[in-house]
Amino acid sequence: MREKLGVFGGIRGIRIFRLFGIFRKFRGFGKFRKFRKLRKLRKLRKLRKLRKFRLFRVWTIAKANHTSQLSVLNSQFVKSSIIIIFIMSDRGHFGSKLGIVLATAGSAVGLGNIWRFPYMTGHNGGAAFLMVYLVCIFLLGVPGIISEFIVGRHGAANAARSYGSLTKHKSWRLVGYLGILTSTIILGFYAVVAGWCLQYLFASLMGQLQGDAAYVQQYFSEFSSHPLKPCLWAVAFILLTHFVVVRGIRNGIERASKLLMPILLILLVIIVIASCLLPGAVKGVEFLLMPDFSKLSGSVFLEALGQAFFSLSLGTACLCTYASYFNPQTHLARSAVEIALLDTFIAVLAGLMIFPAAFSVGVTPDAGPSLIFITLPNVFHQAFSAVPVVGYVISVMFYALLVFAALTSTISMHEIGTAFFHEELHAPRKRAAWVLTVVCSVIAVICSLSMGACPSLRLLGLDILDFCDKLTAQYMLPTGAFLTCLFVGWVVPRHIVRQEYTNGGTLSGTFYRAYLLAVRYVCPFAIFMVFLHQLGIL
Ligand code: PFF
Repeated sequence: MREKLGVFGGIRGIRIFRLFGIFRKFRGFGKFRKFRKLRKLRKLRKLRKLRKFRLFRVWTIAKANHTSQLSVLNSQFVKSSIIIIFIMSDRGHFGSKLGIVLATAGSAVGLGNIWRFPYMTGHNGGAAFLMVYLVCIFLLGVPGIISEFIVGRHGAANAARSYGSLTKHKSWRLVGYLGILTSTIILGFYAVVAGWCLQYLFASLMGQLQGDAAYVQQYFSEFSSHPLKPCLWAVAFILLTHFVVVRGIRNGIERASKLLMPILLILLVIIVIASCLLPGAVKGVEFLLMPDFSKLSGSVFLEALGQAFFSLSLGTACLCTYASYFNPQTHLARSAVEIALLDTFIAVLAGLMIFPAAFSVGVTPDAGPSLIFITLPNVFHQAFSAVPVVGYVISVMFYALLVFAALTSTISMHEIGTAFFHEELHAPRKRAAWVLTVVCSVIAVICSLSMGACPSLRLLGLDILDFCDKLTAQYMLPTGAFLTCLFVGWVVPRHIVRQEYTNGGTLSGTFYRAYLLAVRYVCPFAIFMVFLHQLGIL
């Protein structure tokens, strides 16, 4: 984290400081005139009351966006009360537009795209489902993304504080807390599946996945019911995530996304080409892309909406947290569209990777873990049996792809909680990250044990992993997305929404009215319908 030390006296000093352009990087420094007002903030009075600071008059820029963290230090320089010393900790920013899009799309692109989306498309009418999904993504998902972006960028803090800062009614902070809780639970169980991917990457590298269908099936059940192995891989995956997150926004999250996302795309395209070149692959492409309108029904629409929200990481405060690191110039609406396009493109490519290969060997792809851990190793083995080296390479590439996709998503989930603990507990970022790592590791171990070694660990008749999956995807995500739309559409002052949408009036605000309409009426209504459907009422 970059820190800046400034020593100066009074407003004049600030102006001089400003002349040097030191603050230009920080958003919100145009608001210096508000200093007098800010001084009156209760927060400041509290600060002054602190013994540590009683000698000094403390001026804060905590309200200025992106510099929300302020520590005031005792210093030997200080001789009188008019001298101000402060260290501003820059929360960090993404360094470039590309970094923003890749990191946010990295959060969206994950295991949800690679095995859930293709299966749902294939089973719900192929291209017909795809059309409904696209409508959901662009009519409801994009406004949802923009709303989280608005809250995050304006709040310039962790999710709970961002929601709280946009209204007098502090109870809206609860939406932030809900998002943080949701992402922590998701990270716990997601890490279990990501850990399996890591183990399978290792196994495919060692050539241990070569064998017939019965062998692969047995390999999976032995591994997943092992008391220790899956737990260790899950914790290893969380630690991998941890070490990226503690490096900070630019050096950790942005750098990892800029490296992993292009590799992910390249791997995906190579496997898609190899898969589509197999004999009989056309049937798989048809299965995915030929519209079968007879399968369309109300529940298909609702499933498409649920998938769209999970895939875009909506309702978890993830996009809100990432947006708190955006620059003031970031075009929120355009970024939202780019992220949605990239996410959908990768999901379709994933379908083109899985179905042609599966159909070429006459296997009908099924859902869930069995698809990527039982069906596909077998498919790759059979499909490329003429040239085993190709089968080996494709298998390694496939699991590397899954690991990378999962990693970019787990990084974003981890960051939500890390930012929260860092800012709310005033703990150093590293310590905050450890808190989250430990909490998620405990959840992951419990989920992992309930899948195999301790089958008696169950809640409401489900193993803990399934329970967490259902709880978050069916209840917590829709609630978070629903409340966010209500919040931005009805609670946040309209001028703030407009100001963020148009970057303070510097952008034309195309589709602003359409966005407002969507976020006020269409999205809450549609999400409410999904919610009723999940509850079995509709
Ligand atoms: N969007 C991710 C996927 O499709 O796998 C899952 C996800 C990531 C959910 C980040 C929630 C989140 F905060």
